[in-house]
Amino acid sequence: MLDVTGLRVTYRGRPPVRAVDGVDLTVDAGQVVGLVGESGCGKSTIARAICGLVKPAAGTVAFEGTPVTPLGLRRRPAALTRVQMVFQDPYASLHPRRPIGVQIGDGVRAAVARGAASSEPGAWLRRVGLDPDAARRHPHEFSGGQRQRIAIARALAARPDLLIGDEPISALDASTQAIVAALMRDLAVDSGAGLLFISHDLSVVRLIADRLVVMYRGRIVESGPAQEIWRDPQHPYTQALLAAVPVPDGSGRMPAPPVDDAGYPLEAVLR
Ligand SMILES: Nc1ncnc2c1ncn2[C@@H]1O[C@H](COP(=O)(O)OP(=O)(O)O)[C@@H](O)[C@H]1O
Ligand SMILES: [Mg+2]
Repeated sequence: MLDVTGLRVTYRGRPPVRAVDGVDLTVDAGQVVGLVGESGCGKSTIARAICGLVKPAAGTVAFEGTPVTPLGLRRRPAALTRVQMVFQDPYASLHPRRPIGVQIGDGVRAAVARGAASSEPGAWLRRVGLDPDAARRHPHEFSGGQRQRIAIARALAARPDLLIGDEPISALDASTQAIVAALMRDLAVDSGAGLLFISHDLSVVRLIADRLVVMYRGRIVESGPAQEIWRDPQHPYTQALLAAVPVPDGSGRMPAPPVDDAGYPLEAVLR
């Protein structure tokens, strides 16, 4: 569905920064791809290129074979609804002073404008584990984990073909991270969208990703099925990333917290 080929992005400056240097990446419908690598390796730049927010120096980004071209500001919102982003800071996608139900309604309208069936904001709130009666409340009335759920609800209400999470769990406490990640995976996959899940931290990504893509300094150093890379990392950089992941019980799984800050049961979402 999404095909990135030979992508290169250079930021202007003295000297210019070659942030992404020849990246190939594919995300299929219903597939979860984890894009991992340390801070500054070019992950967000790839996300921006997919959304048409930066102009590649070389390479192509295509959706179902149709190339994405950088868009002027006015055309951007409509064209972007088939790709939805969830950021580390929920306020990057949520308005602080509008009721959350209204904001989820914006997502619904974007979907309807593209010919999708209408849906109720309250139903989206229920789907992310929040009370539908919370629709009148404002983002600041919620915890960080709940705000991220609201951002996920708003993004998915737009019925995107691709959901991109750019460090969507990095600001959450450890007990909430796995749950929000699994929620994103479940809802994206259920709706038939692809999920590109970006993180500098492998420990949670590997729980939800079908495929892993490991980046280092603007390049992909390793990619493949998540379980294979987890079991037998080939590149020294991947090995170093994995060595940094705590595995206290030797099972290869992170210890599972029972519930998150909103009381959402972990067993329901972690496979
Ligand atoms: N707008 C920008 N102008 C100049 N350099 C940038 C800009 N955005 C990012 N960079 C640089 O590009 C590189 C990749 O950044 P980024 O894509 O944000 O990495 P990541 O998301 O993996 O942390 C870094 O060296 C960063 O400093
Ligand atoms: Mg980033």
